[in-house]
Amino acid sequence: MDVLHNVDCLAALKKLPSNSVHLILSDIPYGIGVDDWDVLHSNTNSAYLGNSPAQEKAGAIFKKRGKPINGWSDADRAIPREYYEWCSSWAGEWLRVLKPGGAAIVFAGRRLMHRGIAALEDAGFNYRDMLAWVRDRAPHRAQRLSIVFERRGDVQSAALWDGWRVGNLRPSFEPIIWCFKPYRITIADNVLEHGVGAYNEEAFVRHFERPDNIIRSGFAPGEGGLHPTQKPLQLMSALIELTTQPGQIVLDPFAGSGTTLLAAKQLDRRFVGFEIDPRYARIANDRLQTLL
Ligand SMILES: C[S@@+](CC[C@H](N)C(=O)[O-])C[C@H]1O[C@@H](n2cnc3c(N)ncnc32)[C@H](O)[C@@H]1O
Repeated sequence: MDVLHNVDCLAALKKLPSNSVHLILSDIPYGIGVDDWDVLHSNTNSAYLGNSPAQEKAGAIFKKRGKPINGWSDADRAIPREYYEWCSSWAGEWLRVLKPGGAAIVFAGRRLMHRGIAALEDAGFNYRDMLAWVRDRAPHRAQRLSIVFERRGDVQSAALWDGWRVGNLRPSFEPIIWCFKPYRITIADNVLEHGVGAYNEEAFVRHFERPDNIIRSGFAPGEGGLHPTQKPLQLMSALIELTTQPGQIVLDPFAGSGTTLLAAKQLDRRFVGFEIDPRYARIANDRLQTLL
């Protein structure tokens, strides 16, 4: 207990006792990025693992930008299903280790989170709500269509499509999925027996003033830069205080730089974390050590 293990959580979860954890708070791989740990599909058409002649020729730039998935090929359509299968590989263990009424609060990407919710539901979780984390900064990468035509020397089309972009609007919010493990008794009796199932509004509004499901949170000066998908400490602290009491156990199976665990430690919760990448496991352990 109170450790971050540098291991694959798929194996490590099996060693945790049943009904032992009060909260699972995790920022899981979204399945949309180019980092090895985030490529959870076998689609070699996409630039993420791409090897088409055009991708080979364009090299690093194309790979970095990513090929827009046009949804036409079987491989493109398989990506959401493969994400569901990956989520299903751990969702049952999450259910087993949580106490009845305990929450699983999960950061997931907008594009594939519905498959994550379905996997959690199919494993036996109850889906309670979705919260929106509004980031203080969000880079907008949608490409200008007129520039594509200009590069082709097609001045007429460039003028016609001026002001249009391909891709998405600015990604200002990220969804947070809130599920709980079913319980057999009344919620009040469950709180008495297992210590979980209600939420602490008073603690939450100390962070965000209002008990709203839209949460604005950013990094404190000097806090960021430890992990490509690092989350603010304040945000994790608020979610831990929302659903647990001091002394209770918080689990993060995809710990990254250890933000969840650091927040748990600062708030006098017990914690256990798993992180497969030794670089991030080291960063997480360094952060935890500074609190000793
Ligand atoms: C979205 S990041 C978490 C970032 C974290 N919230 C933070 O603030 O630093 C997900 C992490 O899960 C790790 N990961 C991916 N697959 C894993 C597995 N099977 N077991 C343990 N960790 C894994 C990745 O290496 C990555 O660091």
